[in-house]
Amino acid sequence: MIKTLETSGIGPAGQMRLEFGSRLNLLTGDNSLGKTFILDIVWWAMTRKWPAEVNPRLIAGKKAVPPIGQEGKIAFLFAEKPEGEEYTSTFNRREQSWPVRADRPPFPGLVMYAMSDGSFALWDPHRNYWAHPSGMDAQKRLPAYVLSQAEVWDGKRGFDGRSWACNGLLRDWASWQKENGVQFKHLEQVLAKLSPAPGEALCPGSLTRVDLGDARDMPTVHMPYGQDVAVVHASSGVRRILAIAYMLVWAWHEHLMAAHLLGEQTAQHITFLIDEIEAHLHPRWQRCIVKALISAAQSLGNDAASTNVQLLASTHSPLVMASVEPLFDPEKDAWFDLDLLRDSQVAKVALNKRDFIKQGDASNWLASEAFDLPSGYSLPAEEALNEAAKAMSAESFDAAQAKALEERLRGVLSDIDPFWIRWRFVAQKKGWAT
Ligand SMILES: Nc1ncnc2c1ncn2[C@@H]1O[C@H](COP(=O)(O)OP(=O)(O)O)[C@@H](O)[C@H]1O
Ligand SMILES: [Mg+2]
Repeated sequence: MIKTLETSGIGPAGQMRLEFGSRLNLLTGDNSLGKTFILDIVWWAMTRKWPAEVNPRLIAGKKAVPPIGQEGKIAFLFAEKPEGEEYTSTFNRREQSWPVRADRPPFPGLVMYAMSDGSFALWDPHRNYWAHPSGMDAQKRLPAYVLSQAEVWDGKRGFDGRSWACNGLLRDWASWQKENGVQFKHLEQVLAKLSPAPGEALCPGSLTRVDLGDARDMPTVHMPYGQDVAVVHASSGVRRILAIAYMLVWAWHEHLMAAHLLGEQTAQHITFLIDEIEAHLHPRWQRCIVKALISAAQSLGNDAASTNVQLLASTHSPLVMASVEPLFDPEKDAWFDLDLLRDSQVAKVALNKRDFIKQGDASNWLASEAFDLPSGYSLPAEEALNEAAKAMSAESFDAAQAKALEERLRGVLSDIDPFWIRWRFVAQKKGWAT
C-alpha cells in the first residue's frame, strides 16, 4: 500500500506531503483545490501510467503537467518496500513525461480507482505487468484496465480490437446469473454489503430484455416497490453502487483466474481510490458507504481477515465525515484537508493532515475545518442570525428595530429553531417583547 506521497511544483498546492494511513484516508477541500489530482497522482505512483494515457476516452485523469517554468517532482514510498526505497520522478519537460526507475511496480496488490464520472480503473499485478526474467518484454499486456463509464457497462475490447479485455457489467452479470456460480454469489454478497440496511439489500431480479435492437439479456434489480428494474433504467445512485460492486467482483475473479493460469499467489492487498465517495447517493447511503466499501473489498479475498484494504476517498459530504466517527482509528486512518489561505497577498492552497476530532452530527461537520462553513443555515438565515447576535449585545437597539428584525428572522428560520429561546429571553430582558 502507499505510505507516503510528496509533490512539488505541480497542482494547486504545489508542495504537499501525505503520510497515508494503512486503512482509511479521507480527503476534503473546496472544489478545485486538488483532491482528484491527489488520487490521480497516487494511481500513477502505483501503476506508472496516468488513467487517460491508457484510455484516451477519459476526459479526466490526464497526465500531471507542471506550470511552465516550474520543476515538477513526485516522490512516493510503499509500505511493502523497506525504508529508503523512495521513488522520485522529476518531470521531463522536453519529453513531457515522468520518468521512473524501470522495475516492477513494487506494489503486490490490486489497485482500483473509481472516478467521479463513473469511469473505473484497475491495475492487477498478474495481468498488467509482465517482464521476462531476461528483462525483455515477453508478451504485450495492457498497462492497466481503464474503462470509461460506458465501457464499464458495455465492455472494452482488448489490444487486437477483437478480443474483450472486459465483458462489461451487462454481459458478465447476465452470464454469471445464468451460471449461478461463485461469481454471482459474490456479486449478491457485495451488493448486500453496499446497501444501506440489511432489510433493503439490492437484490438481482430476473433477466429481461429492454430493447428490440439489443440481443443482450439485461440484468435487473429488485426494487422495494416490487418491480424488477433493468439496471440501465436504475437511478444514478443505484447504478454507481452496481458498477462498483461489479468492478470489485470482476477484478477479483479475473485476478483469481490469472493467478491460477500463472501459478501465482493471489493478492492480499487492495488499494481502492474513490473520488467523491458520496456521488449520487442519498444521505441514507452516504452514512454507510465508507464502512461498506472497506468490508466489501475485504470480502473479496480468500480470507477477509488477512486481506488488507487501503481506501483513499475524497468527499464533499459532512454525512460521510460524521459516519466514520465510530470507526476512525488514528493508528490506521488519516484525514487530509485542502484549504485556500487568503491571508497573504496571493492566496495559496495548503494541505493539512488534521486530527480527527468527533463533531457529533453532520451539521457540526459542516462548520468544522473539513468544510469551513459558518453554519448549516441558508445564507439569508445566516445573515439574519449574525445581525440578531449583534443586536442582542448592542446597547442601542430599540423595540421597533427588534420587531423588524424578528419579522425578518421569522421569514428565514423554522418556528422550532433553538435560536428563538435565546431571542425571547433577551427580548424580554431588553423590553422589546410586544
Ligand atoms: N493534469 C493536471 N496537470 C496539472 N494540474 C492539474 C491537472 N489536473 C488538475 N490540475 C490542477 O488541479 C486543479 C483541479 O483540481 P481537482 O483535483 O480536480 O479539484 P477537486 O479538489 O475539486 O477534486 C486544477 O485547477 C489544476 O490547477
Ligand atoms: Mg474532484
